[in-house]
Amino acid sequence: MNKLLLTALTIAALAPAARAASVAGDGDWISRAAATAARQLALQADEVPAPGVFPRNLNTDFSIPDLEWHLEIPCSEFKPECDLREHPGKDNYMKVRYVKPRDWTSGFFPGSLWLAYELTGDKALKEQAAKYTNMLLPVSYMTDTHDLGFMVNCPYGNAQRLSPNDSIKEVIVRTADNLIGRFDPKVGAIRSWDFGPWNYPVIIDNMMNLQLLFNASRITGDKKYTDIAVRHALKTIDHHFRPDYTSYHVVSYTPDGGVERRQTFQGKADESAWSRGQGWALYGYTEAYRETRRPEFLRQAEAIADMIIKRNNTEDLIPYWDFDAKPSPRSPRDASAAAVIASGLLELSTFAKNGTAYRDYAERILTSLASPAYLAEPGTNGGFVLKHSTGSLPHGSEIDTPLNYADYYFLEALTRLRRLQQGKPAADWARVK
Ligand code: GLY
Repeated sequence: MNKLLLTALTIAALAPAARAASVAGDGDWISRAAATAARQLALQADEVPAPGVFPRNLNTDFSIPDLEWHLEIPCSEFKPECDLREHPGKDNYMKVRYVKPRDWTSGFFPGSLWLAYELTGDKALKEQAAKYTNMLLPVSYMTDTHDLGFMVNCPYGNAQRLSPNDSIKEVIVRTADNLIGRFDPKVGAIRSWDFGPWNYPVIIDNMMNLQLLFNASRITGDKKYTDIAVRHALKTIDHHFRPDYTSYHVVSYTPDGGVERRQTFQGKADESAWSRGQGWALYGYTEAYRETRRPEFLRQAEAIADMIIKRNNTEDLIPYWDFDAKPSPRSPRDASAAAVIASGLLELSTFAKNGTAYRDYAERILTSLASPAYLAEPGTNGGFVLKHSTGSLPHGSEIDTPLNYADYYFLEALTRLRRLQQGKPAADWARVK
């Protein structure tokens, strides 16, 4: 029987729910959200249909007139590279989509299991985290994507923080070697994608892959990984940002490092501010500052934070999928962007002159996400923790649905807030050695 289809009441009596009962019973909202997350993830782990696949999202559907309304252009002007994915069909609608290790999101489910273990101390979650992390070993040999940081640092990096061993270090370093293999010194950046019409595409998301490199430098004592991360971050400051500190999604470079083209792939328009991209930028420069203490990275993170606070105009602070989306109840939200922004701001609050305001803003986001409007009722939502994220609206893909990376950054933000409450640094990647 599919447990996820049972009522919340029935689910509450099942074994995974009992496991989650070990959450610190201090009655605060962080513990309650962590307990719900732990229960959901334990259920998801029990439901995975085959070894080597990972829950990513619930399948949604789209209609061309809807997309035209959101994008404010006729279908004939949709980007050719935005080949719309097939409708999931009624058999798959709102069913869990599972992905293989090669998918860019494969590391988030094991990563979330590690974070839920950290928040609750539940040993059963740790066992599941280790099991699903081990299934990602083949990713460490991949060379054809920049997403290696997401895919390997989220599971293996957290594994090394929470349950260190030498074989994890080998995986991190091998993956980092493959990631720096995508750095072209003439361009001065790590190449993001090997597909599409661009000469040398670099997307703002790529800032999120740098933590893997910082960790590899710590493990090996070799600065070459950090040096490349710094060059990538500096190049991105120079070319990805508009004067108001909103970020372009894609910048493609010429072979000698000039700008070939600036555009969007997942946002509303080339000149719009795709919400999750702004979150990736904020988070990326915050961690680049933490790891290097270079003042230009702090200045960049603060400027991006101020822009986000100015531009994010929803009442509950969960942004529309694009900051330039029509301000309408019909425009889907992106809880994943909210979670990334909250996690980034919590850490930035410890470095920035405007730190108290950043922390307050992040806490307001998190209390929205932890409210019934976004946090799943246990036993529902395909076992995902949060509702209402958007993956790629112009592709008709993952519109107003749960996403595994929303869950990951929500859990990470909860751990960061709890650490700050305990007087500890927000992020503890320094434990990876
Ligand atoms: N890195 C892909 C995305 O944010 O959708």
